[in-house]
Amino acid sequence: MSRKPVIAGNWKMFKTVPEALAFVRDIRQTIVGLEHVQVVLCPPFTALALMSDALRGSGISLGAQNVFWEDKGAFTGEISPVMLKDAGCSYVIIGHSERRQYFGETDEKVNQKIKAILGHALIPIMCVGETLDEREAGVTEKIVRAQTAAGLDGLAPEQVAQMVIAYEPVWAIGTGRTASDEDAQAVIAYIRDIVREQCGAAAAGNARILYGGSVKPGNTAGLMSKGDIDGALVGGASLKVESFAEIIKKTSEAKR
Ligand code: PGA
Repeated sequence: MSRKPVIAGNWKMFKTVPEALAFVRDIRQTIVGLEHVQVVLCPPFTALALMSDALRGSGISLGAQNVFWEDKGAFTGEISPVMLKDAGCSYVIIGHSERRQYFGETDEKVNQKIKAILGHALIPIMCVGETLDEREAGVTEKIVRAQTAAGLDGLAPEQVAQMVIAYEPVWAIGTGRTASDEDAQAVIAYIRDIVREQCGAAAAGNARILYGGSVKPGNTAGLMSKGDIDGALVGGASLKVESFAEIIKKTSEAKR
């Protein structure tokens, strides 16, 4: 089954609007012609609307880093799926480990957000992954199974088939430590098995499952040589045009 690879840049709380627009101008020139990789940029909320204009005709998609599940209402400080669509988004990162760790995002909230955004034809990028303590205690599979199963609870197989899941071991995020190609492939194949058990073979065969955690130009080719790894969610290395473009090129070569 051939799945179009996804390279998503998670900018976290970096870049003002002028910085974001300068990045878009440069990346558009750098990755011309790499059509068979789906590139997604996930800037802070403040840059979404203007980036959407700047990305028009580039083939690069826009994503948000979080969402609230209601369409509108008295929820001070929150942003709804309707607003993200309005700002030009087609993807939303859900359940990033930083949100789970610092902002009390539980598996139940992750599931609620996924249902809300699928209802607005936005594509979730659902993040799962174990901490260092959990890996050392040998419970990686248990953690990843619990997060994946809860996140997908109650979804139709056709919805899951459109989703992106990102396996991000927490100990590899922003640390310079990457999972080995083999470890990343093994956990991602395991996640695909969970999707198959819960949602069927078509959903498991179509859902894109990415690796995230210190992805850089130097480790991209190895990770992307693995059959179950359908791309990457990139933090630090997505902030510079040179490194992000290099990751896209290496993915394009590996998945051709
Ligand atoms: P990193 O972040 O690439 O800087 O490790 C990945 C992420 O948090 O999605």
